[in-house]
Amino acid sequence: MSRHSWAEPWKVKMVEHLKMTTRQEREAAIAEAGFNTFLLPSRFVYIDLLTDSGTNAMSDRQWAGLMMGDEAYAGSENFYHLQDAIRRYYGYQHLIPTHQGRGAEHILSQLCIRPGQLVPGNMYFTTTKVHQELAGGKFVDVIIDEAHDPDNEFPFKGNCDLAKIERLIREHGAAKIAYLSLETNVNMAGGQPCSLANIRETCALCHKHGIKVYLDATRAVENAYFIQQREPGQKNRTIAQILRDICDCTDGATMSAKKDALVNIGGFLAVNDEELAERARNMVVIYEGLHTYGGLAGRDMEAMAIGIAESVQFDHMHARIGQVEYLGHKLIEGGVPIVRPIGGHGVFLDAKRFLLHIPHEQFPAQALAAALYVESGVRAMERGAVSAGRDHETGQNVFPSLELVRLTIPRRVYTQAHMDVTAESVIELLENREKIVGLRFTHEPKYLRFFQARFEPVSGETVFKK
Ligand code: F0G
Repeated sequence: MSRHSWAEPWKVKMVEHLKMTTRQEREAAIAEAGFNTFLLPSRFVYIDLLTDSGTNAMSDRQWAGLMMGDEAYAGSENFYHLQDAIRRYYGYQHLIPTHQGRGAEHILSQLCIRPGQLVPGNMYFTTTKVHQELAGGKFVDVIIDEAHDPDNEFPFKGNCDLAKIERLIREHGAAKIAYLSLETNVNMAGGQPCSLANIRETCALCHKHGIKVYLDATRAVENAYFIQQREPGQKNRTIAQILRDICDCTDGATMSAKKDALVNIGGFLAVNDEELAERARNMVVIYEGLHTYGGLAGRDMEAMAIGIAESVQFDHMHARIGQVEYLGHKLIEGGVPIVRPIGGHGVFLDAKRFLLHIPHEQFPAQALAAALYVESGVRAMERGAVSAGRDHETGQNVFPSLELVRLTIPRRVYTQAHMDVTAESVIELLENREKIVGLRFTHEPKYLRFFQARFEPVSGETVFKK
């Protein structure tokens, strides 16, 4: 029998109660939070789709692994388990654990970027870019143009544009390029994958010019699943095999294990070069902790080692991506403008088309995320101009072509019924969209402003009054 529908390859053992708030409570909460969903206490949130980062439900095996924590300061047994898992599934020889992804980005950036160098990448990620800049580097976008168009159905919108990389090398010389930062399942593009062919060509081009390639492996397993599903010649290969192929092209990786690896905290830097690994081990002791724990407890490393092995299972990934696609299709059926193809870790609402009456300068995605919360208690996140920040040189706001609200799906946490409620809430909002008003800053932090910024409505008291 060929079966098309997916079902979760697990059953529920423990539940966590959700609390629904009243509209009045939510209006007060979002005003108190400066119309920024990051500043909402989670007790006021019903369905939390802020992020897929650290919000995963761990398996009973991972929880059992927590009890196997070897909390030795140095040389914890769990470090060696994690090192084995990374060598086996990602293929890198040297592991430097970090408390989360940005800890690894900090170390890599400080070690591999000289002031004035360029760091090409397939679309920026917020924390990655800020660490590149703090090390004196300048991010240059080399993603294909299709990625900037929410309606373009190209199946690998995460791909690098080889011509853009070649032009950069021609104009500036390879020595001016610190390394290429290659992200899989590109977050800011809407969770869009790279093809294996493009990863191979990109790495070959860079290596030909002596430029290293470091992978942001945060969602590489989800990317491997898309390669298996979409790329000619890949459908009979396992996700684990494809993951190894992706990593084998590159020189090392930074990782936020809070996503693919199904844990609540953790990350790592992994490289093949022994000399670089030694320098990174030396640096991690300054900022994170000893090189065999890097800011993590032994138990966290054990949970991560087990989570990595679970993450490459087909049934897991089929249900995980299947759930995201389920929500995406419901929204498309309801006429909601979303980024297509539907991404790996969430559904991205196209706020520019959702709120045609709000100019880009009034941050439509920020307003839409706030309004969705008021409407339904569903918490989403802005991924547009507020996240993009200001241009370093001109001080002006950057207005990316993608002005999105991300409905991010935590792994193994919510049910199909939660997706139904979410879709209904967004569709309801669409019907009342002209009542949503734009926002302006009242407080703008210097770094990664989206996390802590505060806003006020450009007119009236609140962002969305029905
Ligand atoms: N790289 C990517 C592609 C990410 O999505 C993230 C985090 C990081 C690096 C940084 O890792 O959070 O462990 O320090 N993304 C989260 C998100 C915050 O919600 O998308 P971290």
